[in-house]
Amino acid sequence: MKILVCGKGGSGKSTIAALLAKCISRQGYQVLVVDSDESNYGLHRQLGLELPSYFMEYFGGKKEMISKMMAAFPKGEKVELFDQRWGIDDIPRDYLARKGGISLLAIGKIQDFGEGCACPMGALSKMFLDNLVVGEKEMVIVDTEAGIEHFGRGVEQGCDIILVVLDPSYESLQLSKKIDEISQNIGKTLYFVLNRVNPERRAAMLEFLGEEKVAAAIPENEDIFRAGLAGEEIDVQLEEMERLADLLESEA
Ligand SMILES: Nc1ncnc2c1ncn2[C@@H]1O[C@H](COP(=O)(O)OP(=O)(O)OP(=O)(O)O)[C@@H](O)[C@H]1O
Ligand SMILES: [Mg+2]
Repeated sequence: MKILVCGKGGSGKSTIAALLAKCISRQGYQVLVVDSDESNYGLHRQLGLELPSYFMEYFGGKKEMISKMMAAFPKGEKVELFDQRWGIDDIPRDYLARKGGISLLAIGKIQDFGEGCACPMGALSKMFLDNLVVGEKEMVIVDTEAGIEHFGRGVEQGCDIILVVLDPSYESLQLSKKIDEISQNIGKTLYFVLNRVNPERRAAMLEFLGEEKVAAAIPENEDIFRAGLAGEEIDVQLEEMERLADLLESEA
């Protein structure tokens, strides 16, 4: 199963993706975490891993991707990077950082002034996820960039479940409603994960969202906060995350 984690900037997407990956791997799954956020550099540290070489380099790098896209678009053709379906084991080892049952694949990051937009990264994320076959006792968790541009690109197409992470803010609630609407239109299962809540915040958010799709409510946690400030691995086990992992596994 492929789970895509999205939501407002800073709501806790990478934190939830990392906690979930650790939780699901403890339950005996091989977990592939896909870092499809072209702007942030924190996820690998939250997982306690080195940042691997960017997967985009395997296909010749960003310039090569752009020229392939430029050549294909005027003819109304699609760029084809994969000539057959891939499983997780087909990903070249040089592009993975690994520890225990968790592997991390980073699509690519913006690195230089004036290098151009992140379209090639978005396109590669979409093609890779559309093409990826996930076996039994394997789980893929995709951490996305803030906002909903990836919906515009269709990255969600290849995913089975969408997890929207919300912090207690008006912007987060509004954006999450929009994501819910889009997900319904494309027929994808969606759950909300409330983050940094206490009982009062949780109640206020439930009033807006309803209870039906809220799969977890993660409290403000001092250890998560400290790890986030120091750029350290998150080593926190939360019952609420275990419950979320169980729910997702039951959908597999
Ligand atoms: N439940 C929590 N308790 C305490 N701190 C948290 C919690 N969740 C997230 N944080 C902290 O909030 C900060 C932002 O979290 P994170 O990087 O996961 O957000 P994000 O949505 O991935 O951000 P971006 O949109 O920039 O990718 C981090 O420093 C993280 O440690
Ligand atoms: Mg993030």
